[in-house]
Amino acid sequence: MTDTPRIDFNRPIPVGKELQYIAEAVQNGHISGDGPFTKKCSALLEKELGVHKVLLTTSCTHALDMSAILLDIRPGDEVVIPDFTFVSTVNAFVLRGARPVFIDVRADTLNLDESKLEALITPRTKAIVPVHYAGVGCEMDRILAVANQHGITIVEDNAHGLFGKYKGRYLGTFGALAAQSFHETKNFSSGEGGALLINDPVLAERAEIIREKGTNRSRFFRGQVDKYTWVDIGSSFLPSDILAAYLYGQLEQREKIQSHRRNIWHTYQAGLRDWADKHDVQLPTVPEYCEQSYHMFYMLMPNLDLRQKLIMYLRECGIYTVFHYLPLHLSDMGRGFGGRPGDCPVTEQVSDQLIRLPFHNILTGTDQEQVMEAILEFKF
Ligand SMILES: Cc1ncc(COP(=O)(O)O)c(C=O)c1O
Repeated sequence: MTDTPRIDFNRPIPVGKELQYIAEAVQNGHISGDGPFTKKCSALLEKELGVHKVLLTTSCTHALDMSAILLDIRPGDEVVIPDFTFVSTVNAFVLRGARPVFIDVRADTLNLDESKLEALITPRTKAIVPVHYAGVGCEMDRILAVANQHGITIVEDNAHGLFGKYKGRYLGTFGALAAQSFHETKNFSSGEGGALLINDPVLAERAEIIREKGTNRSRFFRGQVDKYTWVDIGSSFLPSDILAAYLYGQLEQREKIQSHRRNIWHTYQAGLRDWADKHDVQLPTVPEYCEQSYHMFYMLMPNLDLRQKLIMYLRECGIYTVFHYLPLHLSDMGRGFGGRPGDCPVTEQVSDQLIRLPFHNILTGTDQEQVMEAILEFKF
């Protein structure tokens, strides 16, 4: 046992009026979905991001599931998905019968490698799903050009990237649809939660129906129909207003949260740059035209062995770090779709090398000093 205090990878803690708002939600007597706090969150995000419509969902996974339903994805369709991402990005489309086509990532930003995109497009390609890894924008100019040329829809998986920008434009506003996550590991959280950003107005009405179990209940509540009924497929993707109340408390503090996270990120970068250069460790790359969302700080160690040793050594120092995604094409499911070693070499390599440092909304300067001192003393 060590007597140094434990430094967690993540600590989901209220930073504003979250608990007060939960009490208000209960007092309002409307704790199911689409209550006052759900509306406040949607309005705030719509205004801030300039998005046509924002629907809160129970998770980013569910926002992606809704996207696949909205795009009428069906067996025989292909969807291009980065190999280095969470399973939900791909599951949403596979659930509708699509075949995933995995694209490797760039060695610098770990975002999908746009130079490989064109070669993967076929007449069956229905969607491209860029993931803005760590909240650093994908090369959207090139991705949009390929998508437009072939008439393919873009769904952004923006789980990490709320309030990040690519060339001055908010992430989540490039695709017809985008999915956000408010899971407890994200910058803004409601424990579990998400949102579907709808940039193509044509999809908005059906999205409400799909989120409301395939009924036109939202139109009924607005007085647009005199009874509501089953009109489409759908499920229960609408979060309780209690969760929205917590989320609103977080979103209200967005400047404070983002400025704290910006500070953490730059402190890590400045404190570890020389050490990283000396030991062949790669720190994150952020192109100058990308304003990142400050979602995480990761490092790429020279190899798997050193990555594992660093994780274990830091744990002995009371510091909790984690690795990230495994290559999807080499998972059991990915192999079932024909994935073989060597298909996505960059993902295969970075997946072994990546370590994420403690990063959360109440991480202190002292905690960070301790993390960095420990890293600088690590024996290669
Ligand atoms: C890129 C990406 N997409 C989707 C998800 C799923 O998010 P949620 O837990 O909100 O369903 C995650 C989870 O962290 C993720 O990293």
